[in-house]
Amino acid sequence: MDLTHRPRRLRRNAPIRSLVRETLLAPQQLIYPLFVTEGKGLREPISTMPGQHRLSVDELVKECQMAYELGIGAVNLFGYSTEKDDKATNAYDPQGLVPRTIRAIKAALPDFCVQTDVALDPYTIHGHDGLVVGEEIVNDKTVEVLCKMAVSHAEAGADWIAPSDMMDGRVGAIREALDASGFEQVSILAYTAKYASCFYGPFRGALDSTPKKGDKKTYQMDPANWREALREADLDIYEGADVIMVKPALGYLDVITRLREAFDVPIAAYNVSGEYAMICAAAEKGWIDQERAMMEALLSIRRAGADMILTYFAPAAARRLQQHTISFS
Ligand code: PBG
Repeated sequence: MDLTHRPRRLRRNAPIRSLVRETLLAPQQLIYPLFVTEGKGLREPISTMPGQHRLSVDELVKECQMAYELGIGAVNLFGYSTEKDDKATNAYDPQGLVPRTIRAIKAALPDFCVQTDVALDPYTIHGHDGLVVGEEIVNDKTVEVLCKMAVSHAEAGADWIAPSDMMDGRVGAIREALDASGFEQVSILAYTAKYASCFYGPFRGALDSTPKKGDKKTYQMDPANWREALREADLDIYEGADVIMVKPALGYLDVITRLREAFDVPIAAYNVSGEYAMICAAAEKGWIDQERAMMEALLSIRRAGADMILTYFAPAAARRLQQHTISFS
């Protein structure tokens, strides 16, 4: 038996393993999604996402300060609207909840990267990401509203706009609208391969945005498809996306890898609410170790090829990474 090559030699102890570790995880690669709600001094627990809260603006600024000090790369804001209508009027109000939140964060932390979600679902009574006419989620009329929403966020100081709606042509239209208003420095983080996934369930509980009728399969992607993700990426990059995203992350690691191989732009992955909730629930039952599961999941997403990860675990993972100089041991 020829045992000249013994891979176990490089696994003998922690310092050796860390020398040959191929993938690292760092707090600055994490993006922390936050939910903002009207009011003051509010931290409303989200029952479907243990440890996550809907925060009033003042509390959210405190959460950002904590995230900033932990070295987390950015926050991504979602507005919780109770004033829903069929035109999503609240989505693009320049004095609306999200613009006010951006201003408050920027006043406290001018150089912290603030990203905002752009989609209509928190603001529509029907819970769809676009306007509904008859049975149809209409594309081009929705894109007009998304553009107004994006500009209202940029005016308030958002660094990155993140359209999560999956309408066709919205990246190009938003790019044009931003540029026309003098915001050519504002980036677009495009939800490029966003799948029609059941793993968004806990998030919809958080925003009270479950579609009242139908599903999102006419705009979000079929979980069976990966070639279509390449097509979506082609279009988004052509239209001006600065960063492309795959969502969810853990069931779609192959898609992350294929996009990584095919394109040079930075890639984000969204470790979504259902992925978060599964780990929390299994840990609560004592079936898995929450901290280790969290680190293994995040590292796997990085190994697949993601540059940055949106994750509700951001503060917990950043704390863990601060305590251990070896990033995963
Ligand atoms: C909707 C949106 C969703 C998420 C982010 N933006 C839900 C959906 O598409 O129904 C999901 C995030 C998560 O599950 O953590 N525009």
